[in-house]
Amino acid sequence: MLGVFDSGFGGLTILRPIHARLPSLSTIYLGDNARAPYGTRTHEEIFAFAFEGVQELFRRGCPLVIFACNTASAQALRQIQQTELPHEFPDRRVLGVIRPTAEEIVSLSRTGHVGVMATPATVGSNAYLHELNHIRPNLVVTQVACLGLVELIEAGRERSEEADRLVATYCLQLIEREPLVDTVLLGCTHYPLVEPLFRKHLPTAISLVTQGTIVTDKLAEYLVRHPELASRLDQTGTRTYLTTKNNEPLSMRASRFFGSAVTVGHVVIS
Ligand code: DGL
Repeated sequence: MLGVFDSGFGGLTILRPIHARLPSLSTIYLGDNARAPYGTRTHEEIFAFAFEGVQELFRRGCPLVIFACNTASAQALRQIQQTELPHEFPDRRVLGVIRPTAEEIVSLSRTGHVGVMATPATVGSNAYLHELNHIRPNLVVTQVACLGLVELIEAGRERSEEADRLVATYCLQLIEREPLVDTVLLGCTHYPLVEPLFRKHLPTAISLVTQGTIVTDKLAEYLVRHPELASRLDQTGTRTYLTTKNNEPLSMRASRFFGSAVTVGHVVIS
């Protein structure tokens, strides 16, 4: 079973293309909706919560977990990979979304200026800045912390005027700070849920990049490169959805998102 972890709903935007590309791969999705947003939390909190999520997915039989969450990838992944896994879970793996995304977007900009819209904790970590400049040192990266957006999306208010106003403000901030930007990454898995707002408020010449397909393609390549790990993943196509919050509204939302009935189970992690 492949484990897919996010602070809340956002990871569904990664899970959907995974299901489309690898339909027989069994998956368990875990959204820590009760403690979202992660993006305004401290490094210590994000690390602790994300590692609890990983351990829950390990307990449920996942040899491989993807952080479909930029904030957890930026703040917790390296520590989990370097400090926790080697001692406690040497045969398990956790992957993030930042490096695979950086590898893809680095070559997309013609002007050499990219924008990254992300949570305050992702921006604060400078993970995108480091990854992108590691691959293309002269790329100019302008990051905008989109405070408050995940809160609205988690509350089901992605179509509200407030969401529209917030996205307008952040797009303007980006363009004012760096008019040469021609490629903008939605570097939070929640943001594709308000992609039309970003499209509306950014100049049409700017390419908007989301991560679902990028991460899915990189996962498929990873599984080819790691056949031993891939052989430990169940291939019967079962799909399990778990949340740390009240599961009924989440079942409805997830069903709407996938266009078919989805039952989300409740789980307590700590
Ligand atoms: N969706 C997550 C991300 O990709 C985190 C959002 C949050 O909980 O603040 O960054």
